[in-house]
Amino acid sequence: MKSLRIRSYAKVNLGLEVLGVREDGYHELRTLFQTVDLADEIVLRPQAKGVRVLCDHPLVPQDGTNLAARAAELVRRYTRVTKGVEIRIAKRIPVGGGLGGGSSNAACVLLGLDRLWKLGLGPDGLHRLAVKLGADVPYFLLGGTALGLARGDEVYPLRRQIRAYIVLVDPGISVSTARVFARLDGRLTPRENSNSIYYFVSRQLEGSGGYRFLQNDLEEAALEEAPELRAQTGRIRAVLLRAGASLSALSGSGSSYFGLFEDARSARRARAALADAGLRALVARTLTLEQYRGAWGRYRYRLSQ
Ligand code: C5P
Repeated sequence: MKSLRIRSYAKVNLGLEVLGVREDGYHELRTLFQTVDLADEIVLRPQAKGVRVLCDHPLVPQDGTNLAARAAELVRRYTRVTKGVEIRIAKRIPVGGGLGGGSSNAACVLLGLDRLWKLGLGPDGLHRLAVKLGADVPYFLLGGTALGLARGDEVYPLRRQIRAYIVLVDPGISVSTARVFARLDGRLTPRENSNSIYYFVSRQLEGSGGYRFLQNDLEEAALEEAPELRAQTGRIRAVLLRAGASLSALSGSGSSYFGLFEDARSARRARAALADAGLRALVARTLTLEQYRGAWGRYRYRLSQ
């Protein structure tokens, strides 16, 4: 039986509002997700039995705790399939960078096994498995420019898909999302919802940028969690903005900062300026919902009742 090779894309959060703590301990969010074309390579190879994960990155577990392995086990349990799979992951997405690498890998394993084992579940049927794996996993069943509500796991594609260049800055620090949220709790005060994402979406519909409305409510807590990141923040932001970024922000709970650029030339200039300042950066492009789906080739999306 043939193997399946998959590109597992990263995301950035263009904006992220934390509205409060939920009864389940998670946080009620409103976030804008955007896929970028930086990707891990995953190869799924059919096996007679069992689930095995191999990854070339020292910080990624290669046992049953790996989110991609948990995704495979969940599919097997849910569908009662007894076949096995070997999952090879070549890491390109920084780990602990707020770019959703682990969640993306898990969603790709769900979609990949659905195809490999001809289960016919589709993104719709896989959604209930995705929510069990993590708050960002359902987003990666869709991709593109999308609004995430509730824990971030209730996802709605936006009508206007963003086409832009994203300069990703990797400070080489791994930040724990759980710890950033825990820090935030100490400081979370009931407040009026800022509506920044609402303003952004309405400006986008009118065709103007609206990026200046966006904010990331996790940034201050992330910088407390990683003081060595705070030391670099001013420099990163200054270089991105000087190069003409429409938006410069922290992605998710960090540690990656990014700048959004309308044209390739300014994006490349920003990357060069970051390199001159001793910072590791790369230029990526956004992927629309259609492009993300296209990456899944002839995949048939079946809607269940
Ligand atoms: O769902 P996931 O395992 O990716 O989330 C990592 C951690 O981030 C959770 O354990 C939780 O502490 C925190 N989190 C949260 N509220 C969210 C999403 C994540 O508190 N909406």
